[in-house]
Amino acid sequence: MATFGNGRRVAIVAGVRTPFTKAGTAFKSLSAIDLGKLCVAELIQRTSLSGAEVQALVFGTVIPNVVAPNIAREVALMPLLPKGVQAFSVSRACASANQAITDAADQIALGHIDTAIAGGAESLSNVPILHSQGMAEALVLASKAKTFGGRVRALASVRPKDLVPITPAIAEPTTGETMGQSAEKMAKINNISREEQDHFALRSHRLAAAGTADGRLIAEQMPVYVPPRFESVVESDNGIRSDTSYEALSQLKPVFDRKYGSVTAGNASPLTDGGACVLLMSEEKARSLGYEPLGYIRSYAYAALDPGEQLLQAPVLAAPVALHRAGLTLRDIDLVEMHEAFAAQVLSNLRGFESTYWAERAGFSEPVGEVDQSRLNVMGGSIAIGHPFGATGSRITVTLLNELRRRDGQFGLMTVCAAGGMGFAMVVERG
Ligand SMILES: CC(C)(COP(=O)(O)OP(=O)(O)OC[C@H]1O[C@@H](n2cnc3c(N)ncnc32)[C@H](O)[C@@H]1OP(=O)(O)O)[C@@H](O)C(=O)NCCC(=O)NCCS
Repeated sequence: MATFGNGRRVAIVAGVRTPFTKAGTAFKSLSAIDLGKLCVAELIQRTSLSGAEVQALVFGTVIPNVVAPNIAREVALMPLLPKGVQAFSVSRACASANQAITDAADQIALGHIDTAIAGGAESLSNVPILHSQGMAEALVLASKAKTFGGRVRALASVRPKDLVPITPAIAEPTTGETMGQSAEKMAKINNISREEQDHFALRSHRLAAAGTADGRLIAEQMPVYVPPRFESVVESDNGIRSDTSYEALSQLKPVFDRKYGSVTAGNASPLTDGGACVLLMSEEKARSLGYEPLGYIRSYAYAALDPGEQLLQAPVLAAPVALHRAGLTLRDIDLVEMHEAFAAQVLSNLRGFESTYWAERAGFSEPVGEVDQSRLNVMGGSIAIGHPFGATGSRITVTLLNELRRRDGQFGLMTVCAAGGMGFAMVVERG
């Protein structure tokens, strides 16, 4: 048993998520705020929690709604929760839900609060489409103009090129490199072949399909009746392909480097909509309310490297620190959950765990070690299940803890890579 940061031990009492659906499909009529509200309401109902117990709600999202940027507060303003629940939103790219969970856990460990809901949501079906600079300036001038003629003159300054809208790119602002290009670069630097990537993607789909068929993944999901007519219900992730094959994957054309590349739509995580959240409590509070927690946070760590280097390699720097803080080594870990942004990234991270070079960069002399494949992402990962950026960290946390319990394991390690060259790792424990 350990408490991180010398504070109180933090329990992850329960967790739930919406199904994850490919962007532009089943959930296209739902915003990230809607998806967040749905899973938080389900969490409260599943745990029979009185809303009055909740003292804070922390939520992550990557592409915020420009009209309602504090998604956490919007989610908190739901009928099941009192209006006095303080709420704040966090952004740490694909590790945003992890940031939400650790921020809430820190508050509990410090003794400021006892109970919090944390998680995240993303709707990549509903990304804001922006006006160009020229169009935006003309609209501002027109809105300030005092006369009709002034408004017409301002709008007349718009040129055809100004009418082209701007959509947010999944690219690094500092380097201009997209995530996919970064994955290509990492595949080349770390000698990850197309074959390895496709085999890893196939594994992700097979394991996720098995976890869905036997109900383990379904248990983490809630059914969602889709507005506005509420006639259709989504009960499970819609991106998992039980019928995919190595042959089908190997035929797909590379997307980000069409000539020499190896990253395809099949071995990358898809653009996805979904929400996920967990209920956190101090150990004492959970006990006093009679809950049997899924597990406890033992340690965590964040790390970052130059985004122009290997953008998605920082989990390799975070994991040894989290293990060190937990007083454990990889040999003690029963299950490992790694976010799969791309097969090339997971395989690069795994190579990094075995390398003395990366160990030394993280400040250690010994590498983390080789991850036993039979303990890794045992129900598949983001490639098959999907990756709503702001929600993924919460999904991984719950999957890891549920599966640890089923296998009667004690310790779990999770890692998440994130834009900006950042990485996250957390060690959880049962009992
Ligand atoms: C890679 C990407 C561009 C693909 O987008 P897309 O073209 O809309 O993807 P689709 O789902 O339509 O798949 C493209 C094709 O591959 C096929 N395909 C995808 N996965 C497959 C699989 N596992 N098996 C067989 N075929 C597959 C699809 O059926 C589709 O075929 P079609 O064109 O004949 O219909 C998009 O998913 C993406 O940008 N992903 C990366 C997200 C990212 O950067 N995440 C950040 C991580 S931190």
